[in-house]
Amino acid sequence: MGATDHTTARRDVMVIFGITGDLARVKTFHSLYRLEERGLLDCPIVGVAFEDWTKDQLAQRARESITAQEGDLDEAVFARLMDRMSYAHGDFGKPETYDGVKQAMGGAEHPLFYLEVPPNLFATVVKGVAGAGLATNARFVIEKPFGHDLASAKALAAELHSVVDESQLLRVDHYLGKVGLEEIPFLRFANTLLAPVWNRDYIDHVEISMTEAFGVDDRGHFYDPVGALRDVVVNHLMQVVVAVAMEAPDYGDRSSLGRRRTELLREIVPVDPARYVRGQYRGYRDVDGVAADSTTETFAALELRIDNPRWEGVPFFIRTGKKLRATETEVRVVFREAPSLGFGLRGEAPPTNELVVRLGPTFGVRVALAAQRVDAATPELAELDVGFAATPGESPTPYEVLFEAALAGGGMRFASQDTIDAEWAVIQRLLDAPPPVQPYEPGTWGPSAADALIDGRGGWPEPWLDG
Ligand code: BG6
Repeated sequence: MGATDHTTARRDVMVIFGITGDLARVKTFHSLYRLEERGLLDCPIVGVAFEDWTKDQLAQRARESITAQEGDLDEAVFARLMDRMSYAHGDFGKPETYDGVKQAMGGAEHPLFYLEVPPNLFATVVKGVAGAGLATNARFVIEKPFGHDLASAKALAAELHSVVDESQLLRVDHYLGKVGLEEIPFLRFANTLLAPVWNRDYIDHVEISMTEAFGVDDRGHFYDPVGALRDVVVNHLMQVVVAVAMEAPDYGDRSSLGRRRTELLREIVPVDPARYVRGQYRGYRDVDGVAADSTTETFAALELRIDNPRWEGVPFFIRTGKKLRATETEVRVVFREAPSLGFGLRGEAPPTNELVVRLGPTFGVRVALAAQRVDAATPELAELDVGFAATPGESPTPYEVLFEAALAGGGMRFASQDTIDAEWAVIQRLLDAPPPVQPYEPGTWGPSAADALIDGRGGWPEPWLDG
C-alpha cells in the first residue's frame, strides 16, 4: 500500500523518532554534523521524542554528542545544523503526536522517517504516521534487530507490510554504508587481473575476521539476550560474504542488486552446528546487565559453504569476538598453491597468493605475491599495500553514507526483507542447537576450539594490523 513513483524522490524533510536516545547521542548528531560540514544537507530535520524538551535542550544534547566524537566543533557548521532542526514531542501511541509532527514538517511531500526506536514500536510509529496521512510518499528507515530468528523476522515484516509497501522500507545494516564493502564487488569485477580467477579453480578458501579488543562494557542489557551471532554475524558479516561471493548485478538499480544479494544468501548452505564454535570471555558475566550464569557467546567462529558453481568446495571461515587481541575487520582471500616449479628455483614451494581487504579501523587492500630474490634462500611473500584511508575518521562514517543515500532517494545501501529472511535461514540451525560456550581469556584470539575449525587450511592468520 501507499508506494508511488514518489517513493524514490529526493527527500524534503527528515523526521527522527527517538532523537533523545542513545543511538542519536552516539551516532546521529555526529553524522548529521559531518554531512552539514560537507554541504550535503538541504532539508529541514525534525527530532521527535517523548521528553518535553526545548530547542535549547536539543541543541545542548547535540553539542555534547558531537564534541564527544569530534573534539572541537565548528560553530558556523553547528549553527547551520541547528537552524534546520526543530523538535516535536509526544507519546508515539497517540495520534496528536503525529499532528505535531505534521505541523513541524511544514508542507514537505517526500518525508524520510527515521525510526530510532525499539523494534516493538516500529509498527506503532508507522501506523501513527499513516494515520496522520503522512505515509503516502514517505520512506521509513529502521534499525536492527529485525527479529531474533527467522519466524520473528517474518512476523515483524508482515506487521509492517500491513501498513506500508516494502519499497518504502529502508533497513539499516551499517556495514552497507562502510567504506570498503561496496568497493569489494568493484575490485572483483572491474579488474581483469582478478575477475577470471575469482572462483573455485583458483581460490582455496576465504577468511572473514571481525575482531574487537573492547568488551560489552555498558551494553550488557542489550547484548546478553542477543550474543555475537545475532549481533554481527547474521547481518554485518553476512553482507561481507555477499560482497565477496555474489554475482554481478545486471543493472545499477536497487532491485538488480537486491536480487543478486538474495540469490547468494539463498545459496549459502544452512550452517551445521558441528562447524560452529561459541566462546565467552572471562569476566563477561560480571558486566552489568549480564546474567550471572549467562551462556551467551561473545565470540563466534563458523564455516560457511556456498552451493553454486563458482564456490563449490570453497570454505568461508568467519570469526568475530569481543575482548580479543586487536580491533580489526578484514576479508582474506587465499588462493590455491601454485604447481611445483620446473625451473629449478631453490626447491621450496612458493607461498600462496592472498588478497586482503581491510574494512576497519581503516580501509585498505593488500596483495601478497610470491617473490624470489636472487640473494635469498627461499621464496617470500611480497606484500603490496594500498591504504585508502590513513586514519580512522578520515572517510565518511557508515551513517553519513546511509543518511546521504536515504535522503537522495536511493535504496541500494539498505537491506530488503528477502535478504533478512535469507540471512536468518543460514543460521537458524545454530540458534536451534547451539554448541556449548567455551571460555577464553581476554586479549587472546578466542577459544582454541576455533583453531580446530580451520586447521586443515593453515589456521587463522595474524590479521593485517597497523604498525
Ligand atoms: C554493531 C554491534 O552493530 O556493530 C556492535 O552491535 C559492534 O556490537 C559494531 O561492535 C561493530 O561495528 P564496526 O563498524 O565498528 O565494525
